[in-house]
Amino acid sequence: MEPISRRAALQLTALGVAGAVVGGVGLWRGSSPSPGTTGSDELVEPPVLTAANGVLAVDLVAAPGAVLIAGRTVRALGYNGSVPGPTWRVRPGDRLHVTLVNQLDHTTNLHTHGLFVSPDGNGDNPFIAVEPGQRFDYDIRLPEDHPPGLYWYHPHHHGMVADQVFAGLYGAIIVEDPTDLPVTRERVLVISDITLSPSGDVAAATRTDRMMGREGDTVLVNGQVQPVLRARPAERERWRILNACVSRYLDLRVPGQDLTILGVDSGRTATPTAVDRVILAPGNRADLIVQTTPGSADVLAVPVDRGAAMGMMAGPRTSGATLTLARLEVDGAPAGALDPLPVQPAPRDLAGLDLARRRELTLAMGMGMGMGGGGGMYFTIDGKAFDPDRIDQDVTVGDVEEWTLVNTSPMDHPFHLHVWPMQVLRDGTHTPEDVTWRDVVNIPAQDSTLVRIPFDRYPGRTVYHCHILDHEDLGMMGVIRAT
Ligand code: C2O
Ligand code: CU
Ligand code: CU
Repeated sequence: MEPISRRAALQLTALGVAGAVVGGVGLWRGSSPSPGTTGSDELVEPPVLTAANGVLAVDLVAAPGAVLIAGRTVRALGYNGSVPGPTWRVRPGDRLHVTLVNQLDHTTNLHTHGLFVSPDGNGDNPFIAVEPGQRFDYDIRLPEDHPPGLYWYHPHHHGMVADQVFAGLYGAIIVEDPTDLPVTRERVLVISDITLSPSGDVAAATRTDRMMGREGDTVLVNGQVQPVLRARPAERERWRILNACVSRYLDLRVPGQDLTILGVDSGRTATPTAVDRVILAPGNRADLIVQTTPGSADVLAVPVDRGAAMGMMAGPRTSGATLTLARLEVDGAPAGALDPLPVQPAPRDLAGLDLARRRELTLAMGMGMGMGGGGGMYFTIDGKAFDPDRIDQDVTVGDVEEWTLVNTSPMDHPFHLHVWPMQVLRDGTHTPEDVTWRDVVNIPAQDSTLVRIPFDRYPGRTVYHCHILDHEDLGMMGVIRAT
């Protein structure tokens, strides 16, 4: 009998995908916590590793194993046995000496998301591959003028990123402020999502999950389901919030509490600004002040409409419910007053500067034969799927460029560039009032986003990509070289 031809197989696969998509899968699934969790546990923070004498030396073991997630011992992946992995605390000018030990069954590597560091050699180099059973010594040097803030680390081996992050491999990095802010306490809140089977395994993604960008049915804060945070009235808490979800956008609210935003990613607001919500695309971080008022407040994630995949355009674009991620219980005697928050240094503004160059990058996705990617769907930037051996953008160190990021697809894509933060001049139809810096910017569906980028300091080769990590794995990534 003739084996089925490759072409016929591709056609069958494409039909299978189309059928699954037309059937429709909502972006937002169930919101109930896993059975067996009560939502009454106190928030626990990941273990903290602090640099000493200018060096943070870390043995980082990536391994499968029994880890505590959502109040259950499940089989997942962890860094040093915990989910999230340990929080690293460093100062500008410090050196990160990380030995990554790969005890996984697959290739992995390490990326320090948002750090302004060299992508070369054994620095923050996403092209390094650490094979199972191997180890690799990273040497990542923060400059003396590195912006303080919340950053994070996660694997970055193309094709494996979404699976490895979804299964538990992520951790926070804090670059400390030159002087501590006057706050009652600081909390690190790593938000992620996961789907666990009844037997305690991490669910595998379907083809449709990958196309949509998978969203776990359980949203975790520091690996916990609906943990409780306790405070007294009139306290000032500083929340460092990381969206480590593979694909889920977060629209965070804490009704009844006073929220002030200090910054997002490495970008600071010159004046701390009162807000009633914080929207974080996958990969974004917020530095948030919560001034406590008495009562019980839910930390909510309101559904975000990030569009639909091809073939679903006739269906509803948003579904699902508001999720309670955590609960803040405020009672007792009011705390005493603290010094006012200091004015932050004014952010750099590239708006009036001469540009070395303008570029336009187009992100596209869809169904079609003969394109990159598998199963008849393609995820491309400028019509090409990721190829680590191709240079897509050549830039000159020291130049400031303006990039128009175009999205021709019916879904939003959060665009991320390694090493160099981006000043957002326009995001879809929205023009920020204040100087706004991000390392992940949203490009709304069938719209565009305008950014300026200072290619300061670091020659080398690195990447930009969609931070819906399934899309990155499917090819929505390009290579940039700075010389
Ligand atoms: Cu958070 Cu290239 O990644
Ligand atoms: Cu990154
Ligand atoms: Cu995408």
